[in-house]
Amino acid sequence: MKKRVAILISGGGSNMAALIDSMDPDHPARPVLVVSNVPEAKGLLRAAERGVPAAVVDHRRFGRDRAAFETALADVLAEAGTDIICMAGFMRILGAGFVRRWQGRILNIHPSLLPKYRGLDTHARAIAARDTEAGCTVHEVTPDLDAGPILGQARVPVLPGDTPEALAARVLEMEHSLYPAVLRRFATGDTRPILWS
Ligand code: GAR
Repeated sequence: MKKRVAILISGGGSNMAALIDSMDPDHPARPVLVVSNVPEAKGLLRAAERGVPAAVVDHRRFGRDRAAFETALADVLAEAGTDIICMAGFMRILGAGFVRRWQGRILNIHPSLLPKYRGLDTHARAIAARDTEAGCTVHEVTPDLDAGPILGQARVPVLPGDTPEALAARVLEMEHSLYPAVLRRFATGDTRPILWS
C-alpha cells in the first residue's frame, strides 16, 4: 500500500510542488493533503492546480496557545490518514508533543549543510562566514530544531559576489531534486542518507 504523504507549507510551495510532481504512479507514496498555516500562502494555489486537497490551519487563530494549534494541525493530518509528513518551507517550530506523536515520520528540508546554520538566515550566514560551499539538507524532525538524523544532503558552490538571494535561488533549485529523491527512498523504509557532492 502506498504511503500517504501530507505536506506542510507556509509560503510559495515550490518544494511542495516538486514533491507532488515526483509522486508518479510507480512511487511508493502519494500526496493526500497540503496544509498551510498561512491562509494567503501561494502554495495553496499550486496544490489546487495539482488536484491535491489543501487545508489551512492558521496559527494566528490560536494566539499564544501553541498546543491548541498543534492539536488542530494533528487532527487535520490524522483525518487524512497521514503516514508521512513533509515540512516544505513550513515556518513554525513544532513542539515536542507533536513531534513525538509522529516521530520517525516527519521530514524537513533546511537550506544549509546541517549541522551548520540551524534556524534562519542560512544564506547570509554562509556568505558572511566566507564559506565556499552551501547546500541543503533533508532530515528527520526531532524535538531539537534542525538537529534530527540526516536523510540527504546536496552541495552547491558559493560564488564570488553572491548575494543571499542569488545563493538561495541556487540552493532552492537543488532542494527540488534532493527532497523528492529522499522521499522516494524514505517511503520504502530506507533511511540511508543520500549524499550528493
Ligand atoms: C526553502 O528554501 C526551504 O528550504 C526553506 O524555505 C524555503 C521554502 O521555499 N525552509 C526553511 O528555511 C525552514 N527552516 P518553498 O516554499 O518555495 O518550498
